[in-house]
Formats: sequence, structure tokens, C-alpha cells
Amino acid sequence: VDVDQPLRDLAGRQLLVGTAVDHAAYTADAEYRERVHTEFSSITAENVMKWEVVEPVRGERDYAAADELVAAAKRNGQRVRGHTLVWHNQVPAWLTEGVESGEIDRHELRGILRRHIVDEVSHFRGRIYEWDVVNEAIDDEGNLRDTLWLRELGPGYIADAFRWAHRADPKAKLFLNDYNVEGLSAKSDAYYRLARELLADRVPVHGFGAQGHYGVQYGFHSAAEIAKNFGRFEALGLRTAVTEADVRMVMPTDNVKLQAQAQGFSALLQGCLLSRRCESFTFWGFTDRYSWVPGWFEGEGAATLLDESFQPKPAYREMQAVLALA
Ligand code: G3I
Repeated sequence: VDVDQPLRDLAGRQLLVGTAVDHAAYTADAEYRERVHTEFSSITAENVMKWEVVEPVRGERDYAAADELVAAAKRNGQRVRGHTLVWHNQVPAWLTEGVESGEIDRHELRGILRRHIVDEVSHFRGRIYEWDVVNEAIDDEGNLRDTLWLRELGPGYIADAFRWAHRADPKAKLFLNDYNVEGLSAKSDAYYRLARELLADRVPVHGFGAQGHYGVQYGFHSAAEIAKNFGRFEALGLRTAVTEADVRMVMPTDNVKLQAQAQGFSALLQGCLLSRRCESFTFWGFTDRYSWVPGWFEGEGAATLLDESFQPKPAYREMQAVLALA
């Protein structure tokens, strides 16, 4: 096998290899745009399908940016993961302020959430293969996360969200998605129990997504542990996915950190490949030219496969090597 091929070609038919797409970069940077399409078989909008973007003013929906990405994906033979319908971040200000001031009560809020889900999922019906329906609903201790949704609507908001989404696009595969759930932990145990309960209640949940935000300084789960964790969700009948892989490091970079980074990505990808139903693997961006990491973690960065000039880092070569073997 010629290893020096785009990741989507090396992965072939057995795995979708995706990237998050920064819409602003996509619009401004032709080199970025080209790489999005040549390298990957799936894309996820990094921000432009989120609620604050699609309904900045109450009742005024704007899918223009997301539509552009979805159309471009189609032209380039790519699938689209939908991200994300219910989350505690990037909720429009009119909504959080409305709830805080008491102008929006629980009853009305439930209707607003239902309309948001039905409207967005219907808008993209038939064009999204997987939706992250509920994002980051559990905290690191394994309890339902204390969010606006839990406080106002109670734990039933999760089942409601899946049911509404399923009715709006019965063919889309609907996912729970979170970080720090790649391996075996209190948090992934809690997801296992939640998934089991939802399925027992006949809630249309189809998949479990592990984001895969790693840091060189924290170490990584082994591929075997990831496959073991994914395997228990698959035994429930769910598919699995790695949805937002990146491996950050304390700056500046050096060869040792870059090698460790390659190992972190490798364990995630191999964990997915060792799993029976891990059908998509998405990177949260692919070049250090555009990445959320430096803006969020002071002094950290270089979390992606390609450097700022789109030159391959050891991690990129490692992904090629692993996919070529698979
Ligand atoms: O677009 C606005 C711009 O108009 C404004 O002037 C500027 C000022 O701050 O902000 C811009 O929006 C930023 C947006 O990214 C687009 O660049 C937001 O501030 C910034 O908060 C937002 O960050 C995103 C973050 O989610 C927010 O929660 C990151 O790009 C995005 O990578 C990150 O993605 C999340 C996943 O959705 C869920 N899992 C974790 C992951 C990483 O945090």
C-alpha cells in the first residue's frame, strides 16, 4: 500500500474520516478549503450549526453558513455529522436571558427547545448521517450536568430531545456525545447506565460519541481500553464514534511532545478500529493554523495533525500508517 495518500483514501470504505470545519477559515482560505475536501470523507461544522448561530434573534433562523458547508460536502462526496442540538454552551443570549429574568418559564422553554430541534433537524433532513443530539450532559463525577436544561426541564429533556429529533429525520443516527469518556471511568459508566435506561424506555438513541480531546501532558487511554469501553455500548446495540479528536501540548513544541502526540492520536484511532461499530473518526480541526486550543488553554496549542503551514507532523504520518494497515 502507498502510505502517502489522503486519509480518506487510506480509510477506504470501512471508516469515515472527518474534520471539524471552521466556517470563517473555509470562506477566507483556499488552501484550507481544498484540504477539507481532499483529505476527509466527513465534515462537522465546528460552530455554525450551534443554536446561537442558527437562531441569534428569537424566531429568526439563519442556516446560511451551515447550508454552504453541507452543499460543499455534497459536491465533494462527503458526509456531514450534525453538531449539536442540545448543549449548555453557545445557547443564544435571548434564551438564557429570558430564562434568568423569568420571562420564559419552564413550559415555554420546553416548547422552544422542541421547536429548535424539529426546525433544525427538518431543515437538514436527509443530509446529516449522524446528529450529536445531546452534548456533554454528564459531569466528570458521573452526575447529570447541572445545566439550564436539567434545572428547568428535569432529566426528561434528554429523552424528549431524541424523540423530537427522530421524528424530524427518522434516518439520521442520533448520538450522545461527551469528552473524557474514551476510556473506562465514572463518567463513561454513567453514560453506559444512561444509554441503557434510554434504550429500555425505547428512546431512539443510536450512538455514543467520545470527543477525544487529549493533552500530551495528561497521557492517553490504551487502544484496548477504548475498544473495551466502546464494546459495552456496542453490546447495547449502539454504534460508536470518535467525534472531536485533538491532542494539545504545552508550548513550545519539541520532537518528544510531537511524538507523544502521534501516540495519543494513534491510540484513539486504533481504539476505534478495534471496535466493531466505530464507523466514523473525526478530528477537531486538522491544521494548527486554525484551532480552538490556544484560545482556551493558556500556553497550549499545536493540537492538530498539520502545522500552521499545512506541513504534516508526526501525528499525520502515524494516521496514514495506521489507516494503511487497517
Ligand atoms: O464568531 C464570533 C465572533 O463574531 C466574535 O466577535 C468572537 C468574539 O469572541 O467570537 C466568535 O465566536 C467564537 C466561536 O468559537 C467562533 O470562532 C466564540 O467566541 C468561541 O467561544 C467559540 O469557541 C468554540 C467553542 O466550542 C465554544 O464552546 C470553538 O470554536 C469550538 O471549537 C468549540 O467546540 C467544542 C465542541 O462544540 C463541543 N466539545 C468541545 C469543543 C471544544 O471546546
